[in-house]
Amino acid sequence: MSSAKCAIRYLSTSSIHFACKIGSRATLNKGIIPNTSIKVFHEIPPLRQWRRTQLLAHRSVGLVPTMGALHAGHLSLIKQAAAENNCVVISIYVNPAQFGVSEDLSSYPKTWEADTKLLKDLDRDLAEDGANGSISAVFAPTTAVMYPNGTPGQEADAKGSFVTITPVGEKLEGSQRPTFFRGVATVCMKLFNIVQPERVYFGQKDVQQTVVIKKMVKDFCMEPEVKIGETIRESDGLAMSSRNVYLGERRRKEAMALSRCLKLAEERYAAGGRTRVEVLEPAEALAQAMMEAQMAKKPEERVRYEVGYLSLADPESLEELTEIDETRGAILSGAFKMLPVESPKEGEDLGVEEGPAVRLIDNIILEPVVVVQE
Ligand code: PAJ
Repeated sequence: MSSAKCAIRYLSTSSIHFACKIGSRATLNKGIIPNTSIKVFHEIPPLRQWRRTQLLAHRSVGLVPTMGALHAGHLSLIKQAAAENNCVVISIYVNPAQFGVSEDLSSYPKTWEADTKLLKDLDRDLAEDGANGSISAVFAPTTAVMYPNGTPGQEADAKGSFVTITPVGEKLEGSQRPTFFRGVATVCMKLFNIVQPERVYFGQKDVQQTVVIKKMVKDFCMEPEVKIGETIRESDGLAMSSRNVYLGERRRKEAMALSRCLKLAEERYAAGGRTRVEVLEPAEALAQAMMEAQMAKKPEERVRYEVGYLSLADPESLEELTEIDETRGAILSGAFKMLPVESPKEGEDLGVEEGPAVRLIDNIILEPVVVVQE
């Protein structure tokens, strides 16, 4: 097995290496990932020029937008893009506009050296496997490049050129992180304008993000086809996320709580449940019971968390449902906030950065059971 395949299989988020900062200028300034043909662009004009060359050569381009700290979820999107395009461009940019004022912008993991190593290994595997396309470029802009008028405000009433997609962006995550989807839509609009890809790739893991991006592309008459890649999970089923490294051992063991609730609701749907009472309420009751079981333990043993939301929503409008329409199916989703560990034991692994609060999100699509003939 080649090393990239090993890396993908064994890349647990706790093993991501945090020491290297994106400002490793020696690597950044060469314009290429060493020992590869993967170009590194920090500015827009040379990327545009490269893009024009691809267009003239009739080579298709797929874009995978990321915030770096790459893991197997990102790599699976890149593989999908390489299967469907000649050239894959990966953007790595931690976008300030999508972080709330009190969120983890400054501590968001930056792992440039590890990321470029993963891309190098993956590109070699793609070539060995005879993939249609290859990793052509990484776009790693600065904020001055992405926001030429200055760092965007993170407040809800900040002024500036923003893209807002409502009402879908206001629901679920948006109701608890009011500026989040404004930031995501704004940066994605910019990335699509800069790279001009034929296809863009997003993960099912962030289901509301996929709904917002599809809506933006449709409503603004944009060109790229929006492709969705399946959620990649750790061996116990926890959805991979760049933020899982903050969990530490104690909270990591309890991190499946959200996915357990969603699975219970999915089982109820599979067993014929169609109403909110039949499908979602058992999941809400399970969440409550699990939280109470934790609180009954001693502070040095327990894990505290809060349910941000558990939702049963329409797949397009994201409106909460009282009953599932069998021709449309539904999205089951949730967010749990894992609170910092109380009373740590001597030498306990609290996670990166001493284990701040971690927001976990996950979802399951309830497929329609009645197919409507067109
Ligand atoms: P980031 O969290 O880095 O994720 C980049 C892409 O990887 C997103 O499309 C996300 O849904 C996907 N992804 C993350 N974890 C995944 C998993 N376990 N399985 C499959 N796909 C997964 O999402 C963002 O960045 C940003 O909001 C961005 C779109 C880059 C805009 O800044």
